[in-house]
Amino acid sequence: MNLKASDWLGFLYTSRLKQKSCNLQADGKWVLITGATSGIGYITSLKYASMGTNIILLVRNPITGSKLKEKLERDYSILCKLYIADFEDLESVKKSAELIVEQNRVIDILINNAGAYRTKKDYLVMGSTQFLLLTI
Ligand SMILES: NC(=O)c1ccc[n+]([C@@H]2O[C@H](COP(=O)([O-])OP(=O)(O)OC[C@H]3O[C@@H](n4cnc5c(N)ncnc54)[C@H](OP(=O)(O)O)[C@@H]3O)[C@@H](O)[C@H]2O)c1
Repeated sequence: MNLKASDWLGFLYTSRLKQKSCNLQADGKWVLITGATSGIGYITSLKYASMGTNIILLVRNPITGSKLKEKLERDYSILCKLYIADFEDLESVKKSAELIVEQNRVIDILINNAGAYRTKKDYLVMGSTQFLLLTI
């Protein structure tokens, strides 16, 4: 992989920027979050749940995943779906992706958090839907 030092050190610069806020109306929408069992993904799942957003958890640990699902449903009265995949095992990712697609549910927001490191804004286009890949 050919990465420039400036890409890797981007967090030094961005961490000092004024934090932006977003007026997103996300209640009743569906957000898919990978790696929501700890860290940034966990806090993000709580934040979305507090706004009334329904959540699809795509995590690798079924035990912590189930506990989080229960917490989100109990504390925030949202709908929550749990799928298990280890991103080091692409077959498990593929199986979960197929299960998610089978549900034919519109995913309004996609948060690719697990195992991702980005310093640039990126978009993923699927059909007529455009997803913003988070800049962390
Ligand atoms: N924290 C920072 O300052 C910072 C700065 C720049 C970028 N980032 C990026 O932001 C993301 C989250 O960071 P974080 O600090 O919140 O990390 P974290 O606390 O280590 O959380 C990572 C999450 O990803 C999951 N995960 C890790 N490997 C996985 C795999 N092979 N398959 C499926 N899920 C996996 C973990 O699951 P388990 O709970 O099962 O371990 C956990 O839920 C990472 O991609 C990181 O590179 C973080």
